[in-house]
Amino acid sequence: MSGFVKVAKVEELPPGQGKCLTAGAAQIALFNAGGSFYAVDNTCTHAGGPLGEGMLEGDQVECPWHGARFSVKTGEALTPPAFEKVASYKVRVNGSDIEVEL
Ligand code: FES
Repeated sequence: MSGFVKVAKVEELPPGQGKCLTAGAAQIALFNAGGSFYAVDNTCTHAGGPLGEGMLEGDQVECPWHGARFSVKTGEALTPPAFEKVASYKVRVNGSDIEVEL
C-alpha cells in the first residue's frame, strides 16, 4: 500500500492527545500537538513500548514503558534509554479526515 490513507477523524484526536493505530502493515502513533498532526512508528526503539499511549508534551512524546522521549515531528530519539529514531510519516488533513502517507 502507498499514498495517503485515512486513519482517523480530526474530532477523534483533541490537542495534546495521541493514539495507536494500524494503517496497512504499519503500527502508527498519531498525535495532535497543539492542533498540528504528526505520525511516527508506534514501536519504541528501546524495547517496543507503544508510543501512541505515551504522554505528549509539546511536540515530544514520552514512552510509557521506560520514559525515553521522541520528537513526534521527526521521530528523533531525544533522551535515553532509546537512541535510535522511529520512522516518521507525512500527515495531512483532508476535510475532517486525518491521512497518513505510507
Ligand atoms: S520501551 Fe520505550 S523507553 Fe523502553
